[in-house]
Amino acid sequence: MSIAPKYIVGNWKMHGDPMKAAALAEAVGRACVGLPAHVETVVCPPSILIPDVARQLSGSSVKTGGQDCHSEREGAYTGDISAPMLAAAGCTHVIVGHSERRINHMESDELVNAKADAALTAGLVPIICVGETQEERDGGRAEDVVGRQVEESIPEGAGDRHFVLAYEPVWAIGSGKTPTADDIRDMHHYIMKRASFRIGRPVAVLYGGSVKAANAEEILAIPGVAGVLVGGASLKAEEFGKIIAAAAALKG
Ligand code: PGA
Repeated sequence: MSIAPKYIVGNWKMHGDPMKAAALAEAVGRACVGLPAHVETVVCPPSILIPDVARQLSGSSVKTGGQDCHSEREGAYTGDISAPMLAAAGCTHVIVGHSERRINHMESDELVNAKADAALTAGLVPIICVGETQEERDGGRAEDVVGRQVEESIPEGAGDRHFVLAYEPVWAIGSGKTPTADDIRDMHHYIMKRASFRIGRPVAVLYGGSVKAANAEEILAIPGVAGVLVGGASLKAEEFGKIIAAAAALKG
C-alpha cells in the first residue's frame, strides 16, 4: 500500500551563518539517504544562506525553501525578495503567512494570498500558514479565525496547483506547548473541509508548533496530519534527524 506523502519542513528562522548552515544542511542530507519515497524533507534557511544550502543539498532528496517572498516579481521594494529570485537561488518551496510575518509585519490574508499566488506563478510550492492566538482560542474563536485565514489566504485558481497548508497555533510556537491530539485532529479536519470547499479537492495540512523528536511520532500519526513544520528543533541536526526518522517509520 502506498503511503501518502509526509512533509518534514525545517524553518530555520533568523539563525545560522554560512558555516553552520552548510554543516546543518550536510547533516540533514545525510539523515535522508535511503529514506522511503513518502518522506519529503524541506529546509528553509534565512534567504542570504539559501544559495549555500541549496548547493550543499544538490544531489540529495532534501529540498530548499524560502521563509517568505514578496507578492511582486520585481520593483522598488527595498529589502524584499521575490518568488522568482528564490526559485533562481535553488528553492522549490516557500513559507508564506507565518504568524511571525502576520504579526510582526502586519501581513493580512489578502497579502498572504498575493504572496502565495506569486509563489505558484514562479513554480514554487507555497506552504501557507494559518493559526489562532491564545486569546482567540480562549474566546472560542479558533475555528472562525483559522477558517477565515484558510479561505482568504488560498489564491484563486490554486486548485490545480501544488500547495500545502500548515496549521500553527500561535501559542504553540516556540512555547513548548502543543494542542492535544484530539484538538489537532479536529482542527485539521476543519481546515481540510474549508480548504476543499474553497478549491474543490483535498489539501495536505501540516502541523507546526513545538514539534520535537519526543512528540513527532505521536503528532505524525494523528489522522489528517500530512507532516510537520518545525522551528527550534530543526536547528539541531540530531533532533531533526529523529523527526525525519519518525516520518520514515510510519506505516500506511
Ligand atoms: P517551533 O516553531 O517549532 O520552534 O515552535 C515552529 C514554527 O514557527 O514554524
